[in-house]
Amino acid sequence: MKILVIGGTGLAGSYLLPKLVKNDNEVFVLTRSENKIERIKKLGAYGILGDIRKVKEFEKDLPGELDFIVLLAMPNVKPGHRITKKRKAELREETNDFFRNSMDLAILYNAPIILPGGTSYKTEKDEIADETWTVLRIGLTEIGIDTDEMVNNAIKTNNPKVIQLIYGKIYGNGGLFRFMFEMMDKGRSKIIGKGDNCIPNIHASDAANAIIKAIEKMPIGEKFIIADDTPVTQKDFTIYMAELMNKKRLGKIPGFIIKLIIGKDFYEIIRMNCKVSNEKAKRILDWELEYPSYKDGLTATIKDMKEHKPYFA
Ligand SMILES: NC(=O)c1ccc[n+]([C@@H]2O[C@H](COP(=O)([O-])OP(=O)(O)OC[C@H]3O[C@@H](n4cnc5c(N)ncnc54)[C@H](OP(=O)(O)O)[C@@H]3O)[C@@H](O)[C@H]2O)c1
Repeated sequence: MKILVIGGTGLAGSYLLPKLVKNDNEVFVLTRSENKIERIKKLGAYGILGDIRKVKEFEKDLPGELDFIVLLAMPNVKPGHRITKKRKAELREETNDFFRNSMDLAILYNAPIILPGGTSYKTEKDEIADETWTVLRIGLTEIGIDTDEMVNNAIKTNNPKVIQLIYGKIYGNGGLFRFMFEMMDKGRSKIIGKGDNCIPNIHASDAANAIIKAIEKMPIGEKFIIADDTPVTQKDFTIYMAELMNKKRLGKIPGFIIKLIIGKDFYEIIRMNCKVSNEKAKRILDWELEYPSYKDGLTATIKDMKEHKPYFA
């Protein structure tokens, strides 16, 4: 198959590209960085220099036909940096452009597209969210409000043909998780408030495997939660990561102080509480987890991060 990956040089993408190439696909990867073109080539894929917000500038470099498009682009957000109202509005516009332009390409090529989402649900006590739950847009996740409507409209009209993969927090060697690793390495990671809220996790390799399965099975018009089997509190995840990195003393910081420092937008995400079911993805996509628990996934990831820089660093 001829597959275009938009955002293929990020965390999930760097695990996805070698798998797609290994499966004998012709893989085209959009990147804004000239340096990454050579790295993409080394993987056996084709790099296309361009910005998804400026399609006119790179459309001449796209192949004549495409069988599938995968969107994995994410705006550049520096964790822990307070976001102004203006910046948040810009990020919303940027996210909208990512979805709108990628979906337009899917219509132009009459190719199905896999779109991203996040497990931004609010569950309480023993509740477990599945794909029928409404996504709760609070804090920084508000930048995706319009994209929910775009995805739902496409599903209703079947134009373009859409599959949505709704990822938990993606961890692996790269992206935002690299930032968390570096914070921990410098002894700057802290447990925020009680840290008793759960956020779903997914190893980047398992996220990539879910994309491969979605391409194979092509369940058009469906949404799938892509998270592992093991709910864990923020506190337990952070303590486990600290143990793996031999960081003995993990400080605590009251929630209200962190909210003052980083602002409401990041704080709301950190404090989100959510448990999810991945049953639909396992059943319909035949998706099997390499890392059903964060414990195995983190052990492999921390070892990898100590030994290697991210592929596209
Ligand atoms: N990370 C998470 O915890 C998480 C959770 C839920 C959902 N998601 C979603 O899952 C997807 C993958 O996340 P990730 O963590 O792998 O992302 P990531 O590591 O931040 O990668 C971002 C990617 O977006 C590309 N990109 C950014 N702006 C672009 C533009 N204007 N034009 C073309 N490409 C652009 C970057 O490519 P270049 O810099 O090479 O141009 C890079 O490959 C994203 O859509 C994200 O919203 C992520």
